[in-house]
Amino acid sequence: MYPLNLSYLHSIKLTCFCLLFWAISFIFTSQDSFSQEQDSPSTKKAAINPSASEAKHPPIATSSSCSGRGCHGGSEPVSGQIVQQNEFSTWLAHDKHANAYQSLLSERAKTMAKNLGIPAAHKDLRCLACHTTPQIAQAQSKLDFPLDLGVGCESCHGTASPKWLGIHTTEAWKNTAPESKKAQYENEGMNYLGNAFIQAKVCVACHVGAPANPETGIPARDANHDIMAAGHPRLTFESLSYQKNMPPHWNTKKYTSNTNRDLEIWVAGQLAGLSSSMELSSHRAELALNNQGIWPEFAESSCLSCHADFQQPSWRDKKNYYQGRKPGSIPYDSWTGILLSEALLISGQDKQISNLYTTLAKERSSFKVSPKEARASADMLAGQLAKIQKELITKGITPPKDWRTLLLDQLSKHNLETATWNESTQIALALSMLSSKKPEQAILQNLWENLAYPSGYESPKGYSPDPKALESALQKLKNLK
Ligand code: HEC
Ligand code: HEC
Ligand code: HEC
Ligand code: HEC
Repeated sequence: MYPLNLSYLHSIKLTCFCLLFWAISFIFTSQDSFSQEQDSPSTKKAAINPSASEAKHPPIATSSSCSGRGCHGGSEPVSGQIVQQNEFSTWLAHDKHANAYQSLLSERAKTMAKNLGIPAAHKDLRCLACHTTPQIAQAQSKLDFPLDLGVGCESCHGTASPKWLGIHTTEAWKNTAPESKKAQYENEGMNYLGNAFIQAKVCVACHVGAPANPETGIPARDANHDIMAAGHPRLTFESLSYQKNMPPHWNTKKYTSNTNRDLEIWVAGQLAGLSSSMELSSHRAELALNNQGIWPEFAESSCLSCHADFQQPSWRDKKNYYQGRKPGSIPYDSWTGILLSEALLISGQDKQISNLYTTLAKERSSFKVSPKEARASADMLAGQLAKIQKELITKGITPPKDWRTLLLDQLSKHNLETATWNESTQIALALSMLSSKKPEQAILQNLWENLAYPSGYESPKGYSPDPKALESALQKLKNLK
């Protein structure tokens, strides 16, 4: 049961994390380089990195700089404050991101490295790019940064250059109005994660992938088919369910008066997921054009169309399965983009853009498309989406008053009879976003059982979702009102 399982996994891992926590937190706090109480400016610099020269530094302070007890390393949340000051402790004890580097030392990662023919996953930039703070991964060959911090604070929050560390700990900062704070974040290369659209872009860069950004010193993050075939889990990120499965180290009460927060996170994730996958696709096509990569990139096509077992009768015998496509051609069945029309509808954006996506998906369903053509259409769509996202970062969304009904209607327009697992699961996750109350959640139970990975699998098996389960859930939710 995919989205529910996420939290289940957390609870199993919790006990071992807690044991580790005391030992590790002691190490971090004792070498804490930026805790306000102790250090003078000169020892601070030395503690970040004693060996490297200042000029080559990415403006990264590392997570241990945030871990002071008086900073973000408290053991309990400080009550009555928005910032609770125990963020580091929550991350270290409960958040899978803190363990992301350790995962590169696991048996699974070792097998992957063997399959890929690389000496070690924890030394390979391709893996480190997503399993540690990306700038650290990029710099590690030259500098002596501690990599074992996993996906650290700055992976999501941005680079806390020494300047940021000073600015945000002053008394004046506490009294700064949110809008001025947002500007300060931008000036200092920090991400204002309270903005759902900024936040979603940050998550998808690792959970979908993204090309390198030489300006910020971030390497390419690309879990391509080579990596999948070596044994990597599939990436199927949906922002709201993933955010809810992250142990919150922020004050969730901040949003109690904003009834549209979940919707905003969901819309932002849909748009960011698609634009990131388009940018990544363009990057892959570019590599192929320069003879540095292969094309087509299998990870962009339907996994199941190549990997399903030969069953008789086959799930492909379903009426309308091919929908005009030539039997034997490989369907584009991206995880991102499926609910683009819905995201555009809610955010009040021009629906024409979804035609761009439909055309692209059709074009990709034939292996005839050259990398040059593929790059052009991916760039076009990414460009349009970037414009929308830029606008939404400043304006936010004002959903239509009857958005719930509109969204349910739009979701009902999908051809449920032929919907793939990707499509069905994205719809189910959207329904789950609409279902915060118990009776609504109960309606979805059946659907999740239908979509769940069978035990022992990390994907659906020869997958044929039951359109009736989806239809019935949609209908029941419509009737509830
Ligand atoms: C620098 C890359 C990176 C960024 C940025 C990032 N993640 Fe992750 N995330 C990972 C990696 C790698 C893992 C797998 C960790 C492991 O188990 O080894 C992961 C795991 C997770 C998990 C646990 C999944 C599971 O199977 O239990 C959740 C939930 C999650 N991320 C949510 C988010 C959200 C929400 C954001 C944005 C606010 C985000 N992540 C940003 C790299 C990243
Ligand atoms: C584009 C970013 C990205 C790249 C590149 C990447 N990973 Fe991951 N990896 C992730 C994310 C995100 C997850 C968590 C997936 C989820 O639960 O949704 C993950 C999960 C894993 C897991 C499972 C962890 C667990 O707790 O079960 C292993 C093992 C792993 N990655 C190893 C590797 C290795 C080895 C490489 C390099 C060959 C690599 N990864 C490259 C993003 C990436
Ligand atoms: C995987 C991404 C991710 C990582 C890693 C991460 N954070 Fe966060 N952090 C978030 C998100 C998302 C929020 C919520 C933002 C919001 O809604 O305002 C947040 C919120 C916060 C806040 C509250 C900000 C506010 O204005 O309310 C603080 C403080 C914070 N994080 C500190 C840290 C520290 C310290 C670390 C490292 C120990 C860390 N974070 C690691 C994603 C991350
Ligand atoms: C165009 C066809 C095609 C597509 C699409 C495709 N693969 Fe593959 N995949 C292959 C081939 C061919 C192999 C190598 C099989 C062999 O050597 O036996 C392979 C191998 C694998 C393997 C290792 C072998 C195994 O069965 O465990 C995994 C895992 C895998 N692919 C995952 C994926 C995932 C996940 C996707 C979608 C993101 C995907 N593949 C999309 C053709 C494809």
